[in-house]
Amino acid sequence: MDQVRFGIIGAGAVSDYHHVPGIELDPRAKLIAACDPNTELLEKRRSDWGVKKLYTNYHEMANDPDVDAVIIATPNDTHHPITMACLAGNKHVMCEKPLGLNFEQAAAMYREARDRNLKHMTAFTYRFAPAMRYLRHLVRSGMLGEPRHFRSQRFLDLPETSWGWRQYKANAGAGDLFDMTIHRIDLGMDLMGPLESICGAVAQFCPRDKTVSGHPCPPSDVDDWSALIGRFASGAVGVWEGSTVMKGYHYNGFGHEWAEVNGTEASAVYRLQEPNVILVGKHGESMSPLDVPEEFLVIPGSPRDPKVGVPSTVFRYDLVYELVSAIVEDRPAVPGFDHGAAAQAVADAVLKSSDGQHWVHLDLMLNESPTSDGSLQV
Ligand SMILES: NC(=O)c1ccc[n+]([C@@H]2O[C@H](COP(=O)([O-])OP(=O)(O)OC[C@H]3O[C@@H](n4cnc5c(N)ncnc54)[C@H](O)[C@@H]3O)[C@@H](O)[C@H]2O)c1
Repeated sequence: MDQVRFGIIGAGAVSDYHHVPGIELDPRAKLIAACDPNTELLEKRRSDWGVKKLYTNYHEMANDPDVDAVIIATPNDTHHPITMACLAGNKHVMCEKPLGLNFEQAAAMYREARDRNLKHMTAFTYRFAPAMRYLRHLVRSGMLGEPRHFRSQRFLDLPETSWGWRQYKANAGAGDLFDMTIHRIDLGMDLMGPLESICGAVAQFCPRDKTVSGHPCPPSDVDDWSALIGRFASGAVGVWEGSTVMKGYHYNGFGHEWAEVNGTEASAVYRLQEPNVILVGKHGESMSPLDVPEEFLVIPGSPRDPKVGVPSTVFRYDLVYELVSAIVEDRPAVPGFDHGAAAQAVADAVLKSSDGQHWVHLDLMLNESPTSDGSLQV
C-alpha cells in the first residue's frame, strides 16, 4: 500500500489537536474523509483540514471503499458500535480510549479486529511521551533493578462547569476514571506487567449543573476523582490517583502528571510538564534530571522533528505514525485493542471495588500473551 487513506469519525477537539497533525506529518498517510453529525463543525473541518469527503453518518464512512483506515474520536458510548461497523467495512481502526463502556465491549472489539486480520490501535497517547518511552527502556533493560513499585498521579485544574457528554455515565461510562486514570492503568501494566488484583475508589465533588454561560443543565453522575492500589503478577505494587478538580495544578492546561518506577537499584520519574527530561536516582543519591537521549524523542522512523512545537503536545502526533507503520509493515500496532481491553478490565474492577468496598482479583481475565507483550488473551 503506497498511501494509507484515512477517515476521521468525530471531528471534535482531539481529532483536531492530535490526529490531523499526525496524519499531516506522515507522508505515507492522507486524510480523505471526515464524519460528524454536527454539520456546522463538519463544514468548518472542510477548510481547517482540507478534507473533501464529508459524512454525517458513520455507516457511510464504514462502507466507503476509498477509506483504508479510520480514527474514531467520538463520545465513549459510540466507540463500540462505530468500531464494529468499520471493521465489518474492512477498515483498520485506531479508537480513542476508553475503548468501550465496559470490558465486554472492548474485548468484542479486539476479537473482531483480530479475527478479521485488521490492524487495531488504542489511542493511549502518553505511552508516546519521550520520558515515558525512556522510562520503559530503563525498566525493560534492568537499569532500575527489579521493579518494586509504580506510582501515577494525574491532577487537572478544570472548571467546575458542565463537561458536556463527559459528565454523564450513559455517554462516558465513568468520569476521571475512564477519561484520565485509564491511560495510567495502561502505563502501569506496560511498565510492570499484568495486574493481579486491585482495590479502587471513586468520588464526586462537583455537580457540574451549570454550563459555562451559567445555564442550568442536568447534574453530572460520574466521578471526578479516582484512585486504586494494585498488586502486579510480578509481586510489584502500584498506586494511582487522578482528579480533574485539583486547584493550582493548571500548568497551562497540561495539568500535573507524574509516573515513577522504584526498583531494587534505582528510581526514575516521567513528568508530562517536562516530557523530554527524566528524573533518575540510585541508592544513596538524590533524584536528578537527565535529558532523554535523542533516540527516544520520537518513535523510530517518525519524520517528526522533536525540536519543533510544544514538547508536552507534539509527541501525540506519533500515534498515527505507529498505526501507519503497522499497516505498511504488516505487524501489530502497539498499543492494540488487547491493551485497551486489559486497561478497561482494570477500570471496570475499580468501579466494582469502589461500589462493594473490597479488593477485586483480575487473574482470570489477564494473561501474558505470547504475541504482544503484556497484553490480554480473550
Ligand atoms: N487519547 C487522548 O489523550 C484523548 C484526549 C482527549 C479525548 N480523548 C477521547 O477522544 C474522544 C473524543 O473526545 P473529544 O475531546 O474530541 O470530544 P469532542 O466532544 O470535542 O468531539 C467528539 C465529536 O464526536 C462527534 N460525534 C458524536 N457522535 C458521533 C457519531 N455517532 N458519529 C460521528 N461523530 C460523532 C461530536 O459531534 C463531536 O464533534 C473521547 O473518547 C475521549 O475520551 C482522548
